[in-house]
Amino acid sequence: MKVDVILGLQWGDEGKGKIVDVFTPHYDIIARFQGGPNAGHTIEFGGKKFVLHTIPSGIFHPATLNVIGNGVIIDPYILFKEIGVLHQAGMKPEENLLISRRAHLILPTHRLLDAALESQKGDGKIGSTLKGIGPTYTDKYGRNGLRVGNILEPNFQTNYSKLKSLHLELIHQIGFDYLNHTLDGIPFEEYEKKWFDAVQQMKALRLIDSEIFLNKALDEGKSVLAEGAQGTMLDVDFGSYPFVTSSNTISSGVCAGLGIAPQRIGQVFGIFKAYCTRVGSGPFPTELHDEYGENLRVGGNEFGSTTGRPRRCGWLDLPALQYAIMLNGVNSLIMMKSDVMNTFPTIQVCTDYEIGNNRLTSFPFELDQENLKPVYLPMPGWNTSLSDYASFEQLPKELNEYIKFIEKKVGVPVDILSYGPDRLQTLKK
Ligand code: GDP
Ligand code: IMO
Ligand code: MG
Repeated sequence: MKVDVILGLQWGDEGKGKIVDVFTPHYDIIARFQGGPNAGHTIEFGGKKFVLHTIPSGIFHPATLNVIGNGVIIDPYILFKEIGVLHQAGMKPEENLLISRRAHLILPTHRLLDAALESQKGDGKIGSTLKGIGPTYTDKYGRNGLRVGNILEPNFQTNYSKLKSLHLELIHQIGFDYLNHTLDGIPFEEYEKKWFDAVQQMKALRLIDSEIFLNKALDEGKSVLAEGAQGTMLDVDFGSYPFVTSSNTISSGVCAGLGIAPQRIGQVFGIFKAYCTRVGSGPFPTELHDEYGENLRVGGNEFGSTTGRPRRCGWLDLPALQYAIMLNGVNSLIMMKSDVMNTFPTIQVCTDYEIGNNRLTSFPFELDQENLKPVYLPMPGWNTSLSDYASFEQLPKELNEYIKFIEKKVGVPVDILSYGPDRLQTLKK
């Protein structure tokens, strides 16, 4: 068997959580391969809404196993907060949750460092979620990090203290007043205590060598779906650097983040919104600063699932989408949130970028160029509310034309259309 992949093609928040949950009944295992609690994946069903940060989005189906892979970074405090919410809903997530021993730990001081480094950047702020993502991956690649498997070792506390001292030295150098900085509203020392309580609780979870577990499962004919976090335009190599996250969000990240060989990658499902959003700083060529942008934000409830920040909104960007499809080898597209534009008389689609009077023939090195302009094609809106369509053929003509135009331009079919946040508001071709 092969590993199918589901990932975001824009700047994150495309609706990955919803679609992974919809796909889960068809898979034996769901596995997160990168990122950490910077992610916020929303799942809605039966009038209930959940936001997951670390736990894979297949957790609501008890028959499916959920793996947090080696490429993910984990804050034990945040993980147990999530587990607590699921317990309150009557679930037992520890029964179908497995965690890689090789996944790295986010220490409380990684979060302080994240805040300290951001505070130093002034106008160049990344707009980090302040969950400690950058500093934790830095320590991973700098070979200083602590991994989940280390919590079972007798010298864990000593190694923790060493790394903490290193972080505090840096924080002092920056001149960041960490004692007056709270983490999720909690003073540092109290957070650190809760973090250690969570580490203690974590020992009772199923900590495994997930690369061996997953390859064995594939050999036995089990089906696996890899769940991406963030989006392609936030990828550390190919996103709008430096305004990116610190991991490879693209399909090749699955190989390193789960220990899967390239020939074992199967279908790659790419998710995109019928428009674009971005949260945090960085270039966004099709961003709208008018009432259309405001309508998208309000109509689409475009406020960060992790930080609550308002998301920046704009028209669909096809050059960026084509670039993302190329990088990921997407062979099936999933279009989300078309319902948010139900009342728009006209919809603009960015088909190309222009510098001066020159159309760009390939995706530029730098999106952040003052003279880079999107070229728009206006298309008629569908002006109808979307509900209870049995097939794509029954969709309003204008929406079908919008979809066909995208398919023709990017050369990949849109096989699923989402028209609301609930599981059931999903149409398959
Ligand atoms: P993720 O990070 O990719 O999982 O996406 P988020 O959960 O951060 O953001 C997507 C938001 O859109 C969530 O609030 C979802 O409940 C919501 N959503 C998902 N699909 C649709 C849809 O088709 N229409 C509408 N209106 N909302 C949707
Ligand atoms: P999901 O999985 C949207 C953005 C942050 C910031 C930049 C770097 O829900 O799609 P970081 O905390 O990683 O150092 O922040 O990346 N960002 C996201 N934006 N959705 C996400 O995840 C994001 N995770 C990080 O806003 O601009
Ligand atoms: Mg999100």
